[in-house]
Amino acid sequence: NRSDRPRLLVGGSPSSSGTVETEISKTRIVGGEDARFGKWPWQASLQMGALGHVCGASVISNRWLVSAAHCFLDSDSLRYEEMTLFQSICSLITLQITLNNLQRIIVHPQYDQSVSDYDIALLEMETPVLFSELVQPICLPSTSRVFLYGTVCYVTGWGAIKENSHLAKTLQEARVRMINQSVCNKLYDDLITSRMLCAGNLNGGVDACQGDSGGPLACTGRSNRWYLAGIVSWGEGCARRNRPGVYTKVTALYDWIRHNTN
Ligand code: ARG
Repeated sequence: NRSDRPRLLVGGSPSSSGTVETEISKTRIVGGEDARFGKWPWQASLQMGALGHVCGASVISNRWLVSAAHCFLDSDSLRYEEMTLFQSICSLITLQITLNNLQRIIVHPQYDQSVSDYDIALLEMETPVLFSELVQPICLPSTSRVFLYGTVCYVTGWGAIKENSHLAKTLQEARVRMINQSVCNKLYDDLITSRMLCAGNLNGGVDACQGDSGGPLACTGRSNRWYLAGIVSWGEGCARRNRPGVYTKVTALYDWIRHNTN
């Protein structure tokens, strides 16, 4: 049931992943495996018209999703050389989403495209989603929550399975570990700000990739709840040695999220 309209698929069920069939030369989770049906019920796919799947997102309440700012302003599949062109395409995309499933897209006002700082966007849905076994929100970690280095977390998405490959047909999940901030900052020549965190495996082989952007890095806390620790943001290539995935650090932006979503 593919229409040419942008829509949001939540729950990560096989039926929704089955509609992600557009092949664009972007990347998906590398080194992961097929996710079990219903295992990641906050995972959403953000789709735009003929492009199909462009980014991931996470359900945080019955009206709000969290994604990455770069999904809306400089998605890899849409490169804008001129500002005029950029704005017209940008408003067109916004309009299409607004007309269908999204009422509002709030990109962080401090989002810096050149260094991917504050890479976060909030998406308000037109109508609230009904929670079910397959559609559930993920908890937001508050400012004080710390995910210690070495903590095991999971990144999920329909992005490429290796660099420059096609999108995954089934939702992928990969087990990654939190990486020390200063170690990561050295590996990336001081590009890691306090709104970013790194996760992956320094030996390479496991990572998010193009098309996973905006999607969740989920970690369990005490009481076995899942928390949204990070948002897939960037990385040099995918799953390369000493080039871990970089994520938007949700705890650093908790107040902004709370303030904008009440
Ligand atoms: N920017 C990419 C996207 O738009 C995601 C990059 C994540 N890369 C990584 N190596 N972890 O989908």
